[in-house]
Amino acid sequence: MKISVIGTGYVGLTVGTCLAETGNDVVCVDKDQEVVDELSEGKLTFHEPALDDLLERNVAEERLTFTTDLEKAVNFGEIIYITVGTPSDGDGSADISAVLEVASSIGRTMEEPKIVVNKSTVPVGTADEVRSTIAGETDEEFHVVSNPEFLKEGNAVDDFMKPDRIVVGTEGEKVRKTLEDLYEPFVRTTGNPILFMDNRSAEMVKYAANTMLASRVSLMNELANLSEKLGADIENVRRGIGYDHRIGTHFIFAGTGYGGSCFPKDVRALISLGKEKDTEMKMAKAIHQVNETQKGILADKIVQYLDGDMTDKKVAVWGLSFKPGTDDMRNAPSINLIEKLIEGRAEVVAHDPVAIDTAREELPEEVVFNEDQYKTLQGAHALAVVTEWKKFRNPNFDRMKEFMEDPAIFDGRNIYDPAKLNNLGFYYEGIGRG
Ligand SMILES: NC(=O)c1ccc[n+]([C@@H]2O[C@H](COP(=O)([O-])OP(=O)(O)OC[C@H]3O[C@@H](n4cnc5c(N)ncnc54)[C@H](O)[C@@H]3O)[C@@H](O)[C@H]2O)c1
Repeated sequence: MKISVIGTGYVGLTVGTCLAETGNDVVCVDKDQEVVDELSEGKLTFHEPALDDLLERNVAEERLTFTTDLEKAVNFGEIIYITVGTPSDGDGSADISAVLEVASSIGRTMEEPKIVVNKSTVPVGTADEVRSTIAGETDEEFHVVSNPEFLKEGNAVDDFMKPDRIVVGTEGEKVRKTLEDLYEPFVRTTGNPILFMDNRSAEMVKYAANTMLASRVSLMNELANLSEKLGADIENVRRGIGYDHRIGTHFIFAGTGYGGSCFPKDVRALISLGKEKDTEMKMAKAIHQVNETQKGILADKIVQYLDGDMTDKKVAVWGLSFKPGTDDMRNAPSINLIEKLIEGRAEVVAHDPVAIDTAREELPEEVVFNEDQYKTLQGAHALAVVTEWKKFRNPNFDRMKEFMEDPAIFDGRNIYDPAKLNNLGFYYEGIGRG
């Protein structure tokens, strides 16, 4: 099939590349010329495991091309994906102006019937807005499909190639058949379902999924903070509940709060949707509030350990991206931590395996970056571990001690064994480990 994808961020590029990998001819559009130039050479513009090889191959085999020319792209694909950003507005609602701008351009430029698939995460009812926006510009036939994306950064290719389920909101029978054909290769081996439903339910599924997952994180963090005060260890509690099949093991890790471009914005967007409909989203509000507090917890522990005075104190930070496997810094808990430390006049030296370049744009200019995880510790009075990159799991503790002025570890992901670290002569604090 001939496909156009508008927006080549984490979602759009994954979608475009994976659809090209299954034999489709794909044109991706972005408004950023630099991004388009790099991608046209088969070079990835952000860190995402496995996407680089796929991109290079599909560009080389000429199934995947990039352009800034929206008109050309609109008239190329029989299916047009919208994968632009929908960031939080000041009041927490989702800003869908980029989606509507693209919809309007599609309407203005299309010269034959199209299927417009919205993959951006959008408030319930947006498909109707997209529909009326396009209809305001053209008399050609078109269909609007709501097809939320569930990929995780750091595992995007695998998630897209082997989804647990595919959710498609559409009313048209013919459109349903087209999308079934397009997505069949992705469910062929697993037998996982393609779930067809109405547009509004499909849009709601995405917010429900993210809020559900975020709720588990916030509840575990709340339980962790209480466990700490009661002398219980949240890691034992986690194991104790995780074997319960009704609960399961996913998303029950205590830590420094969730970040990224999705959970924080989608929980807030749901709260805002509730407000619009006079339905207070009490749970969603609590999830958000707990998370906001949690993002400050590691900094509070370090400030307290250093007796409130961080002048002339050096704090090392391991891990900056909002989670391992990505260089995405959007809403990363490391930002809250580092801003608090800098406010308290600490000297901050930070290391991340892939996110130093993106972090530089987000963090205060006082932060010093080091490409070497051990040299980051030189002269440090404390180490904060914020992102659970694999290489931080089993470091050389003797070497760490040699570098550190004061061997104190603040483990924001509970990856170390407190007893082991105490035996090795470290001061240790995790999250919720009484
Ligand atoms: N990142 C994720 O893990 C993830 C997962 C599922 C769903 N989503 C949703 O998918 C959407 C996209 O997310 P993302 O993380 O890929 O965003 P992103 O910010 O990484 O990428 C968006 C891209 O769209 C481009 N763009 C914006 N307006 C444009 C226009 N008018 N024409 C052409 N290009 C334009 C931008 O230049 C950018 O490259 C959001 O709604 C997000 O909530 C994201």
